[in-house]
Formats: sequence, structure tokens, C-alpha cells
Amino acid sequence: MTDTFLLDGEAVPFAPGQTVVQAALAAGRYIPHLCYHPEFRPHGSCKVCTVKANGRNATGCTLPAQAGLEVESETEELRALRKTLVQMLFAEGNHFCPSCEQSGNCVLQALGYDLGVMTAGFRHFFPDRPVDASHPDILLDANRCILCELCMRASREVDGKDVFAFSGRGIDKRLIVNAPSGRLADTNAALGDKAMDVCPVGAIIRKRVGFAVPIGERRYDKSPISEQALADAPRPSEHNGGGA
Ligand code: SF4
Ligand code: FES
Repeated sequence: MTDTFLLDGEAVPFAPGQTVVQAALAAGRYIPHLCYHPEFRPHGSCKVCTVKANGRNATGCTLPAQAGLEVESETEELRALRKTLVQMLFAEGNHFCPSCEQSGNCVLQALGYDLGVMTAGFRHFFPDRPVDASHPDILLDANRCILCELCMRASREVDGKDVFAFSGRGIDKRLIVNAPSGRLADTNAALGDKAMDVCPVGAIIRKRVGFAVPIGERRYDKSPISEQALADAPRPSEHNGGGA
């Protein structure tokens, strides 16, 4: 007999070791998420996947699935919370979607559309952040960084390089690179690194390929992120702790 937990009143089966988000996705149920990436251990930084588990808020991407757990996700309260979190991310960075090469492929933008974000909802911080175009093949625009740590984890765990790190705290927290000059060109970052593949927004951009796929024909132009995440999710027969 397969163990299940309840998600908005419906039984969701799970495999040992799966989190609530992973099991939900595998069962065809979408819980919005941003910093979670199926190839990396969840670390729960963005809180967009917040659900209510047995009456208490928890991040669904880190919450282990357990038999008998009662999880709420699609409630007005949680939808409003997620919307506010996304609005805060827009307000505390400089996200000029119409001029961003990642428009249409950006997870933050796609979530904004999916959650009905029409304005930032908060006064914009307009932080002064650098654009590093020093590397011949890669552009780093810290204005769009949402501090999800995916590039750091990919660089460390897959590329074995430690190109990226964070510096500072709170509103001053920012992405830095591992070179005394502070320039990406002076690191050992390379175009083929996994770290150049994982950025969910437009902070790490490959040069000279920006508009190879025209805006309007991109990933999230075709269908909402909620549909795409489910289409990409592993099905129960593929249970391996993955998700989308
Ligand atoms: S550069 Fe991209 S992948 Fe790295 S922390 Fe910022 S948003 Fe995340
Ligand atoms: S997706 Fe769960 S905390 Fe970011």
C-alpha cells in the first residue's frame, strides 16, 4: 500500500524521501515554487512554495511528505502570500522585464503572471547593483538576481568551481564572484558550466544568443508555468525525488 498525504483534501501518494512539492508534482498537482530545482537539494530560500501543513506554514519544497499530513495549498490566504512574496522580489531588485533578454523564459516573470501580479505593490528600492560584462561569453546582471543560490550550488556541486558567493546581509546581500578583481572574467567560469544553465531569472545570460528564440515564442509565452511544471514533472513510475 502506498503512503499518502492530503493536499487540499485529496490523497497524494509519495515515495520515501520525497518532499511535499516533489510528491505533488509527480502526482500532477502544482504548488508554485521558485528557488526549488529538481537537480539540487531544496534549501527553501524564496518561500514561494509556502503551504499550510497541519495548520502551520511551511515551505513545501523542504517539507518531507508524511503519511496523514494535511496540506493546504490552493487557498486565498496562501495565494495572497505567494503573490506578496513575488511582489517583494520585484520591488527589491531592478527587474525591467520588457528589456530583459530572459523575458518569456524567466521563472519570476512567469510566476508573476500566474499569480496575477499586476504591480510591484511596494515602493521600488532601485538598488545600485553592477552589471559585469567582462567575461567574453557570459553577462552577469546582479540587478535581476533573486539570491536563490542555484548558481552557487551548481558551481560548487556540479562544476567543482565555487565561482559564485553571496556577500553582505539583508538588503545589502548581493552576488559576488570568486576573483580579487570582482570581475567574472578573472574567474574560471566557462560557458559550458552547469552554473550558467540554472539561473531562473536573467541574472546570468549567455552572450550573443539572447534573441535566438523571439519573444512571444519562448517557454512561458506558450503556456503558464503551472502547466509547464506539471508537464515536466516526473510521473509516479519515475519517482526519484525529482520535480520541476
Ligand atoms: S544569479 Fe541567478 S542563479 Fe545565481 S543566485 Fe542570482 S538568481 Fe539565483
Ligand atoms: S521553492 Fe520552496 S522555498 Fe523556494
